[in-house]
Amino acid sequence: MKTKIIAANWKMYKTPHEARAYFEEWALLWKKFNISPSAEIVFFPSALCAESVDRSLVSARHELGHRFFWGLQNSYVKAQGAFTGENSALVSRYMGAEYLLVGHSERRQLFKEQGNFLYEKVKYGLENELQVVFCIGESLEEREGGETLSVLKKQIEEVLTPLGANQELFKIAQKALTIAYEPVWAIGTGKVATVAQVRETHQWVLDILSVLHFSGCRILYGGSVKSDNARELISIPNVDGFLVGGASLVPESFLQICEAVGYE
Ligand code: PGA
Repeated sequence: MKTKIIAANWKMYKTPHEARAYFEEWALLWKKFNISPSAEIVFFPSALCAESVDRSLVSARHELGHRFFWGLQNSYVKAQGAFTGENSALVSRYMGAEYLLVGHSERRQLFKEQGNFLYEKVKYGLENELQVVFCIGESLEEREGGETLSVLKKQIEEVLTPLGANQELFKIAQKALTIAYEPVWAIGTGKVATVAQVRETHQWVLDILSVLHFSGCRILYGGSVKSDNARELISIPNVDGFLVGGASLVPESFLQICEAVGYE
């Protein structure tokens, strides 16, 4: 069985001070919850909160005895250089990051990231020994137009085909690449995909991954995951965890989701 991941995407929320307060509350609440010891809990804070989150997680690991991780929500594809405003995954690695998020739909829509550039980012993360969570998902228009499968196939192939062509990267990706399926219409809208939609789409994603020899990768679901739907969603075959936005911003609701994952 694949190890479950519950990931928090904090987007551009929280100051370093608020991040510290979050983990103080998290530590106080932790013992009230029954969290599966094998589940990986990952935080994606904004880059400006990274240092504060790293420090808090060092104490949380020590105090609570659970493995917590963090990663950047985005990275440029170079270690350093004249790239004003960008952040480097390699620097995050030195700061304690173990994960990197790539291709979130907000990056795709607002910052026009796609195709080969996303491949470069995934490659860069993997080369720097980070676990990469690569996001895919269709828009409402695409779903209603019956294009979901072809859209997801294209998004996966444009990154995984070149990865598969590089023997060394292919080997690394087998262990360090996770896919996050997030229907764009379900992100931040409160509209969660139905069980039937998630079941069918995760099976499609697994089928596409299998053809490319990546069937060992975990597939997370994201899009309005909340404490009241997490238990049902995690019981769907091929759902290996969640990428959570809004509900991860409050320790109690995120802990409830983490607990639900352990019940599967
Ligand atoms: P949401 O966000 O849980 O608020 O829908 C998910 C995401 O953007 O990853």
